[in-house]
Amino acid sequence: MVDSIRFDVPGSDPRALTKVLMSAVVPRPIGWISSVDADGTPNLAPFSFLNLLASDVPTFYVATAGRRGGGAKDTLANARATGEIVAHIVDELHAEAMNRSSAEVTPDIDEFALAGVRAVLSSVVRAPRVASAAVTIEARVLSILPIEGSAYSAIIARALCLHVRSDLMTADGFIDPNRLRPLARLGSDLYTTLGRVFPMTRPS
Ligand SMILES: Cc1cc2nc3c(=O)[nH]c(=O)nc-3n(C[C@H](O)[C@H](O)[C@H](O)COP(=O)(O)O)c2cc1C
Repeated sequence: MVDSIRFDVPGSDPRALTKVLMSAVVPRPIGWISSVDADGTPNLAPFSFLNLLASDVPTFYVATAGRRGGGAKDTLANARATGEIVAHIVDELHAEAMNRSSAEVTPDIDEFALAGVRAVLSSVVRAPRVASAAVTIEARVLSILPIEGSAYSAIIARALCLHVRSDLMTADGFIDPNRLRPLARLGSDLYTTLGRVFPMTRPS
């Protein structure tokens, strides 16, 4: 057995646990989520608590914490108000733009402008999408699940329409990871890009 440090969750300092968890469950993909409020004002913010829940009927989640001052982040409030979100997969090309859009600003600030990216109309939802994004998923909110005892809520969303930059597709229908060049989140303010990509066949 390896020498280890034990963290019992009850009674532990939540900030210390957050540091350990955020740097242990890595690398996390980054979803750039656009949405609109009930008046149609657009919003754009990155979230690394995001992943697939189902692929046969494509479903994913995005988990949002509360705002520092209390209350819901705009992404959650908009998902609730409109029942729609758009998720973009963040690549290396968009690293700095994504980071600029993570500033906690008032809902009237246009985060597309703040990030310096062009917004274009989506195909099936009202929220605009990032014109230059490598992969975009337009989605309808299935449900919003408050995480018991936590300030987080999970937005569970069903994909309605995907847009994939055409040069990313391989002949056998996958997205080429070396061309996608996804950005991923580590603990603290650290990020990573793809390391070695290698095949491994599953045992039958
Ligand atoms: C790379 C990155 C990942 C983030 N992941 C999350 C996340 O998973 N959940 C969350 O609540 N906030 C996350 N944040 C912080 C939000 O982006 C930030 O609070 C943002 O202002 C929320 O915007 P909104 O109020 O417009 O929704 C992340 C920030 C960065 C830079």
